[in-house]
Amino acid sequence: MILVTGGAGFIGSNFVLEWLARGDEPVLNLDALTYAGNPDNLAALNGDARHVFRRGDIGDAALLDSLFAEFRPRAVLHFAAESHVDRSIHGPADFVRTNVDGTQVLLEAARRYWSALDGAARQAFRFLHVSTDEVYGSLGPDEAPFTETTPYRPNSPYSASKAASDHLVRAWHHTYGLPVLTGNCSNNYGPMQFPEKLIPLVIANALAGEALPLYGDGLNVRDWLYVGDHCAALREILARGRMGETYNIGGWNEQTNLSIVRQICALLDELRPAAAPRESLIRFVKDRPGHDRRYAIDARKLERELGWRPAETFDSGIRKTVRWYLEHQDWVERVRSGGYREWISRHYGT
Ligand code: NAD
Ligand code: TYD
Repeated sequence: MILVTGGAGFIGSNFVLEWLARGDEPVLNLDALTYAGNPDNLAALNGDARHVFRRGDIGDAALLDSLFAEFRPRAVLHFAAESHVDRSIHGPADFVRTNVDGTQVLLEAARRYWSALDGAARQAFRFLHVSTDEVYGSLGPDEAPFTETTPYRPNSPYSASKAASDHLVRAWHHTYGLPVLTGNCSNNYGPMQFPEKLIPLVIANALAGEALPLYGDGLNVRDWLYVGDHCAALREILARGRMGETYNIGGWNEQTNLSIVRQICALLDELRPAAAPRESLIRFVKDRPGHDRRYAIDARKLERELGWRPAETFDSGIRKTVRWYLEHQDWVERVRSGGYREWISRHYGT
């Protein structure tokens, strides 16, 4: 059994579905079902005994102790977080509460459980922390991509809270010996991403004939990675990563936001022709405060040590992604209308 936190969110749900498609080791999925947690993402696992879902907060130490005692996981994969930079600008408190305090509570619960394990189980236990390249701050146009030794320079409340969580994970290894691993990944895209993030927002708006907002001049650069490639990297790191190490995960795929949006428009025009080219919907809007100009990942350590490289090109990954959204308009509709929240309150009574 593995314990996945945040497994109803975008990357966590992709990870859980792929994990169970590849083997039979069960998953205990702990998720608070914030606005970003969507049980629809896991509908394919309804009735599947290999998937145990518990609604709960990573900041609830008593709940964590009881889950560790009952399910005795051999590993923790820690995805749960507040993840959207724009929300962190409007309301940083939730980011500190979940990403910093929550991670500390989870680390302590994992440590209590791991300390009491004997011999082989204690040796085998792993805590894999899922983090971001945003902790390294922003690159100039000619600077080399981030490596694992690039100094931390987080610029947004989101990246500062993730940087803090990375430091806690590191400290729990160095101080207490907890067997941790960390992945710092670049921007993900793919199925089931909440349409507040650039790529699903643009797909949904373009299909609805609504404006496609680009912040500032649209020339900020991100290094986009297909979510399935991130999940594959995490499986490799969990299986064979060196204890206490951090691994940068990226797509070797730097692109400006403008270029990303144009490619999505062209794909939609091809797959769902409209009266006018979707590019005409692009609008340059007020920039995000403190907007990081460029992220780029040097993922050579992961390739050298664990043989990982992305399987998807951006062309193949974005085509899969756009097709998924076209084929799952009901998913998009339930997110945009809040329908999935009604189900949560009916089911959980809050
Ligand atoms: P997401 O916002 O889609 O999902 C987060 C999940 O965590 C949701 O299901 C939410 O309900 C759950 N959650 C939030 N607070 C919780 C709490 N206190 N207790 C339990 N569950 C809680 O995020 P995502 O994009 O899937 O990102 C997952 C992880 O990957 C995050 O740690 C993020 O920092 C990291 N990451 C994301 C990206 C990206 O591009 N999306 C890139 C690199 C790293
Ligand atoms: P986002 O998906 O929010 O990820 P992050 O800020 O964590 O990299 O944004 C990706 C890029 O797209 C980022 O440079 C901000 C930009 N962006 C827009 O231009 N318009 C938008 O409406 C959004 C949500 C993002």
